[in-house]
This record gives sequence, C-alpha cells and structure tokens, in this order.
Amino acid sequence: TKSNKVRIVEVGPRDGLQNEKTVIPVTTKIELVEKLAKTGLRDIEAGSFVSPKWVPQMAASNEILEYILKYPPQARDPIAYAFLAPNSKGLENALSILRSHPQAEGEGECPKPTVELSVFAAATESFTQKNLNCSIAESLKRFEPVIKAGKDEGLRVRAYISVVLGCPFEGYDVDPKKVAEIACDLMEMGADEIALGDTTGMGTAPRTSELLKAMKAAGMRSEDVAMHFHDTYGQALVNTAVSLENGIMSFDSSVGGLGGCPYSPGATGNVSTEDMVYFMETLGMTTGINLDAVVDVGEWITKEIGKSNASSVGKAILGR
Ligand code: HMG
Ligand code: MG
Repeated sequence: TKSNKVRIVEVGPRDGLQNEKTVIPVTTKIELVEKLAKTGLRDIEAGSFVSPKWVPQMAASNEILEYILKYPPQARDPIAYAFLAPNSKGLENALSILRSHPQAEGEGECPKPTVELSVFAAATESFTQKNLNCSIAESLKRFEPVIKAGKDEGLRVRAYISVVLGCPFEGYDVDPKKVAEIACDLMEMGADEIALGDTTGMGTAPRTSELLKAMKAAGMRSEDVAMHFHDTYGQALVNTAVSLENGIMSFDSSVGGLGGCPYSPGATGNVSTEDMVYFMETLGMTTGINLDAVVDVGEWITKEIGKSNASSVGKAILGR
C-alpha cells in the first residue's frame, strides 16, 4: 500500500534569505531556525558554505551550524539540518565545525539533530558558469570528493540540479535527458538524493511530467528524487501535483514564500511552506507539520526582514 506521508524540506533560512540585500543579523536567522524547529518540520536547510564574496548573506553560516550543534533547537522529533557546500573549501569549513563540536546528545525536548550537506549542479552551461564559475563537467569533478568526504564522515548528502525546467540564460532550452544524465552521475558519486530545482519557476505541468519520465527512463527511483519549485509563475503547486502523480514524495518549500536565487534575475521565492502543507493536507497526505504554527513563523519572519508575506494560505488564515 502506498504511504501518504510526504517529506517537506524547509529551505527558508538558506534559499529564502540568501538573496536579501541587507545583512540579516545572525540572531534573527537562528531565531528563525528555532521557530521552524517547533512546527513539526524534520528537514531544515539552515545555511550555505559558499564564498562570502559571491553570496554575502550566507557568511554567518558557520555560526548557525555551531549554534545548532551546541544548543540543539527544541523539537518534537530529531531534525536534519542541511548546509550547502559547493567545493572542498566549503566542505572543509563545515567539517572543521562538526569535528570541533561533537554533537551534544539532545536533552529532553531537544532530540539530537543530524547535519546534512548539499552540493549543487545545474542543467545548463551558462547557469553553471554564473553560479559556480565553471563548466558542468568541472563542477561534477569538484563535487565528487565533496560527496565522498561527506559520506565518509557519515553525513547524508543531497545533490541539487538547478534550472531543470528553464534557465534565465538559455530559456526553455533545457534537455530532460541531460538533467537525468547529471542526476545519474551524482548518484553514482554517492549522493543520497537528487533535488530538481525549478530555479526560474518556468516549469509547467507537461514539462514537469516530461522531466520525471526522462528521470525514470534513466533508471532514477522516485524515492531518490525531491522537487524544489520556485513559484515565480504561480505554477509550483500544479507542478507538485504532477510530481505526486509520478511518485515523488519529497518537496522543498520556504516559509512565507521567501526567496530567490542571486544568479537567477527576477526569480521569486520558493513555493511557501504554508501553501505546500495546506495543499498536501487537503489531498489527505500527512506532513507532520502544524500549519498554524508555520503561518505564524511566516508572518513573523517577513515582518522581521521587511518583506510582504508571499503565502496565499498564510494570508488567508491570518485574515480569517
Ligand atoms: P571562484 O571565485 O571561482 O572560487 O568561485 P575560487 O576557488 O577561485 O576562490 C576564490 C576565493 O573564494 C578564494 O578566496 C577562496 O578561498 C574563496 P581569496 O583567496 O580570494 O580570499 N572561496 C570560498 N570561501 C568560502 N567558502 C567557500 C569558498 N570557495 C572559495 N566554499 C565558488 C567558485 C563556487 C566558490 C563561487 O562561485 C560560489 O561561492 N558560488 C556559490 C553561488 C551560490 O551560493 N548560489 C546560490 C546557491 S544555488 C541555488 O540557490 C539554487 C538552489 O536553490 C536550487 C534551485 O533553486 O535551483 C539550490
Ligand atoms: Mg532555489
């Protein structure tokens, strides 16, 4: 029998905040993670070990990881905290913190958290150049030792592929077969999961379906795939429905619909966690997430950073 449990990965603290121009205090970021941890979420992407020259907003990610290890946020269930690491330098920065802060056993209401790493490839050459300053082939060569070292350290490793349904520089000219090929390469390197990023929100229902069929044809299992939809064109939940029909059970979202990608001009936020949870629950799926609690976090963080709340469900529930 098919399980009705879906996994929602909260990417607000990383994808949601990375594009903000004014530096958000690290205390606010930590408070966001702590508030999210109390909502029932079990996967929270909390930071990014990238070059601070490229993405200044993520510069304090080391402090966030240290804090999580020293003071595991209160939560009902153990939470996996993910951090991006694009190269050996990012990996070493993350590992040195992990090694110098042996994870404290969570006490009482603070179960022991785990840490995950994420590498991030892209499906087009031009986006890879803009985002990582190298070719696709070179990026894969750099990820191989990062994935291996992460696995050797006992960490779960996620591998993103960006611009899978449209590229800011190459438009709709993204080949689903190429995406599937990169996915297979990353799985062979030892990645535990592939997250397919619709970075630009250009994805449509038929193109999502076509992409997932190509993934299946290449031998990818649906349980190894997560979908990461940005809602720039308002199609994220439609594409989510198509993904569910294709057996995908893992979805990324960001509280308050925060977000954008610094190397994807005009892209807006990820689909909001509030809308995602509401959508799943109306379908009879279980998320384990308390919708009202996430709505409150979305309202709090958007006010805190001076943005409007981009979640339809959040606004509807607050205005009720
Ligand atoms: P580069 O300039 O080619 O790197 O950038 P480099 O190796 O030549 O190093 C240049 C300098 O950066 C050196 O410092 C390095 O030490 C330093 P200097 O000697 O000049 O003082 N450096 C680093 N510092 C800290 N952490 C590091 C690191 N690496 C080098 N890890 C690089 C190459 C990959 C570093 C750069 O392009 C970069 O950081 N890119 C990250 C871009 C990014 O974060 N994009 C957003 C995340 S992806 C995304 O949002 C999409 C996603 O949400 C899915 C979707 O929506 O599709 C995941
Ligand atoms: Mg993204």
